[in-house]
Amino acid sequence: MDERLTRKLRQHVRTDALLGVESVPMGTGPLRTASPVQPAAPAPAAPVAPPVHTPARPRAGNKLQVLDAIDRDEVRNCQKCVLCQSRTNTVFGEGDPNARVMFIGEGPGQTEDELGRPFVGRAGELLDKQIAAMGLSREQVYIANIVKCRPPQNRTPAPDEVQACFDYLVRQIEIVQPEVIVTLGGPAIKALIDTKEGVTRIRGTWFEFTALALRGGPTIPVMPTFHPAYLLRSYTVDNRKKVWSDLQQVMQRLGLTATKG
Ligand code: URA
Ligand code: SF4
Repeated sequence: MDERLTRKLRQHVRTDALLGVESVPMGTGPLRTASPVQPAAPAPAAPVAPPVHTPARPRAGNKLQVLDAIDRDEVRNCQKCVLCQSRTNTVFGEGDPNARVMFIGEGPGQTEDELGRPFVGRAGELLDKQIAAMGLSREQVYIANIVKCRPPQNRTPAPDEVQACFDYLVRQIEIVQPEVIVTLGGPAIKALIDTKEGVTRIRGTWFEFTALALRGGPTIPVMPTFHPAYLLRSYTVDNRKKVWSDLQQVMQRLGLTATKG
C-alpha cells in the first residue's frame, strides 16, 4: 500500500472514530464519478430494503466538532499545494453542519482570504440574496469552496491544486450529508463530476455526486448553476432567470417555498 493511501485510510479511521461511526474506509477508487440523472422519481410507496452498507452518518452533535477539527488540525496548516504560499488565511467553509443544501464555490477571493470566511465579498452578498430568495438563511445552509486557499489574482485553481484539496471537500460533504449540492461556476461542477461541458451547457440539469457511495454513503444530487461573480459581471435578465430557475429546481426538490418570484 502506498504512503498516500495509508495516510488517507488512517485519516478516515480517525474521522470515523471522532464521529462515533463505523465505516469501511476506502481511498482507492476515483473520487470524481458522476452521471447526469433525471429529476427524482416520486418516492416509492412501499418500504425499501435497508442498504447493505450502513452510511457513515455522524451523530448530529458531533458534526460541528469533527468539521472544526479538520479545519484546525489540518486545513489551517495545510501545505499540500502551492496556494499555501500566497494565502493570508485558509477558508474552510461554514454553516449548519446539518444543512439540507450545500453551496460549493471555486475558491476564496480577496475578502475571503482576509477574513477566513467563504463568500463574504460582493459575490457573497449576491449569494446571500439568492439563499434568502429560496426561503433560507445563510445560517441554514453550508458554504464551501473546492480550494481552501486563494489563488493569486483570483485565477482559476489548477487541476493539481483542486486534487490536493479535494479530500477536505469530500469529507465536508460526507459529514454534512446535504440533500442537495449546488455548484457555483464551471470549476466547482468540474471538480465534482466528470464532464467536459461548460457550465453554460449543463446548468439546470441534475447530476449525481457519487464519491461517497464508494464508501457506503449516499449519492447526492448536484445542481450546477452560474457563479454569482459571473452573474454580477453579466447581470442580464436572461442570466438572472436562468439562475433563479436552477435554484427553483433545488427548492422544488426540497419542498421549499420561494420568498420572491
Ligand atoms: N468566490 C468563490 O468561489 N468563493 C468564495 O468564497 C468567494 C468568492
Ligand atoms: Fe492545502 Fe487546499 Fe490550501 Fe492547497 S488550497 S494548501 S490543498 S488547504
